[in-house]
Amino acid sequence: MPLVNSKELFEKAYKEGYAIGAFNCNNMEIVQAITEAAKECNSPVILQVSAGARKYAKPVYLKKMVEAAVEDTGLPIVLHLDHGADFEICKDCIDGGFTSVMIDCSSKPFEENIAITRKVVEYAHAHKPYVTVEAELGTLAGIEDEVKVEHGAESYTNPDQVEEFVKRTGVDSLAIAIGTSHGAYKFRPEQCTRDPKTGVLLPPPLRFDILEEVSKRLPGFPIVLHGSSSVNQEYVKIINEHGGALKDAVGVPEDQLRHAARMAVCKINIDSDLRLAMTAGIREHMENHPDHFDPRQYIGDGRAYVKQLVKHKITDVLGSNNKI
Ligand code: G3H
Ligand code: 13P
Ligand code: ZN
Repeated sequence: MPLVNSKELFEKAYKEGYAIGAFNCNNMEIVQAITEAAKECNSPVILQVSAGARKYAKPVYLKKMVEAAVEDTGLPIVLHLDHGADFEICKDCIDGGFTSVMIDCSSKPFEENIAITRKVVEYAHAHKPYVTVEAELGTLAGIEDEVKVEHGAESYTNPDQVEEFVKRTGVDSLAIAIGTSHGAYKFRPEQCTRDPKTGVLLPPPLRFDILEEVSKRLPGFPIVLHGSSSVNQEYVKIINEHGGALKDAVGVPEDQLRHAARMAVCKINIDSDLRLAMTAGIREHMENHPDHFDPRQYIGDGRAYVKQLVKHKITDVLGSNNKI
C-alpha cells in the first residue's frame, strides 16, 4: 500500500470515536519504533515531520525512511508536514511526496491566516493524488521550532470563527486550542494542584466546552489536538533516577485525551512523550552499562521504550488499535 492522505482515515475515526496518533519523526529509530508498534496494534498512523526535523535529518532521509516503513509494515501511513510556517515549505513537501501538510498561520491575523491557508489548500487539492491540509485557529503555549509562545500569551480557539474559516479556506481538518500546549512543561505549577501522595502536579482540565461548541458548528468535521503529550511520569522518573533533572514536567492526562478522541478529535499529536521515552531508555542504559559504547545498544533501548510507549498510546489513549 502506498502512503495515504488523512481523508478516509479521519472519516472512519470520526464515525467510530477514536483518533489517529500523529507522532513526530526525527531519525530511523523513531520511525521504526512508531511503525512497528502500529503494526503490532493493527493501527493506521501519521508520521509527521517538523521544519526542525527536516533540518536535522534532511528531507530526503526522512522521506526514504518513511517509505521504508510503508514497505516493511504494509500499513496505511500518512506522511505529514507538522507546523508548516508558509506556503513555500508546504509546496516543497507536497512536491516531494508528502500526503498531508499543516499550514500554521495561527499566530497571524484571521484574514492573513485565511489567505495563506486558502493558497496552500488550492495547491494541495489540485495535486494528484490529493494532499490533505490541516490549519490552526487559536494559539498554544510552548515552543515549536523558532516560535515560542509564553504561558499567558496563548489564546483559546473562538468557536464563532471556525465555520467561516473552514468554509473560506476549504481545509480538511482544523487544529484548535483548548488548553494543550507544546513541550514537557505544559502547565505552570501555580495552574495545578499537587498530589499529596506522589508530589506530582495535577493540571487543570481541558476546555471541553470549546471542543463541544466547535463540533456543533462543524458537524462531522475532523478536529486536531496539538501539544498532547501526557508526560508519562514513569519515564520522567527513570530519567531523573539516572542523572536527569526534569522538575515539575507535566502533561495532559491521558483520560482527557481518550475523551477528546471519542468526540470530534481525529488526530492527536505526540512528540514530547517520544522524546522522554527515548531519553529514559538511553539514560538507563548508559548508567547501567558504563562500559558500553556501541550506539546500537543504548539507542536500541531508547527505541524499545518508544515502541512500548506508542503501543500504549494506540491501545489505551487513541483507541485506533485494530482499525485497519
Ligand atoms: O510542535 C512541535 C513538535 O514537537 C516539533 O518539535 O520543532 O523541535 O521538531 P521541533
Ligand atoms: P507535544 O509537545 O505535547 O508532544 O506536542 C507535539 C505537537 O503538537 C507536534 O505538533
Ligand atoms: Zn504542534
